[in-house]
Amino acid sequence: MTTSLTELPHDKPVALRVVPQPHDANVHGDVFGGWIMAQVDIAGAIPASRRANGRVVTVAVNSFVFKQPVFVGDLLSFYADIIRTGRTSITVDVSVYAQRMGLVGETVKVTEATLTYVATDSQRRPRELPPLG
Ligand SMILES: CC(C)(COP(=O)(O)OP(=O)(O)OC[C@H]1O[C@@H](n2cnc3c(N)ncnc32)[C@H](O)[C@@H]1OP(=O)(O)O)[C@@H](O)C(=O)NCCC(=O)NCCS
Repeated sequence: MTTSLTELPHDKPVALRVVPQPHDANVHGDVFGGWIMAQVDIAGAIPASRRANGRVVTVAVNSFVFKQPVFVGDLLSFYADIIRTGRTSITVDVSVYAQRMGLVGETVKVTEATLTYVATDSQRRPRELPPLG
C-alpha cells in the first residue's frame, strides 16, 4: 500500500468533521467501512437537503472507493460538492481526508464517493427541486 500525503482542500468549506472512536472499529482494530459509509451519506445529504430546501432520501450510491484505511483517533474531514442536478435528484461527490492522530501534517485522502439523493414531499414522493436563487 502506498500512502500519498496531501493537504486539505483550501478552496471549499468542510461539510462535516468527526473523530472515529474505538466502538467504530472492526475486528482488526481499523475503522469499520460501514461506519465510514454512514458518515459519507450524512455529509452528502447536507448540500443536497440545502439545494432541495427540505427533505431528501438517498436513492443510490453510484461509486465508493476506500483508498486508505481509517484509524481510531484520526480527524476526518468530509467535503461534499453537488456535481449534477436533475428534475428531482441531486448527485453529490464526497471526498474524505484523514489527519492522522498525533502526526501533525500527515493528511491522506481516504475515501471518494458519489451518491444521488432525491427531494421528497411529505408523502415520500419525488418532489421537483426549487429554482436556484
Ligand atoms: C427515492 C425514491 C423516492 C424515488 O422514487 P421513484 O418512484 O423511483 O422516483 P423516480 O423514478 O421518479 O426517480 C426520481 C429521481 O431519482 C433518480 N433515480 C432513480 N433511481 C436512481 C438510481 N438508481 N441512480 C441514480 N438516480 C436514480 C431518477 O433519475 C429521478 O431523477 P430526476 O427526477 O432528477 O430525473 C424511492 O425509490 C424511495 O423512496 N427509495 C427509498 C429511499 C430510502 O429509503 N433511502 C435510504 C434512507 S434515506
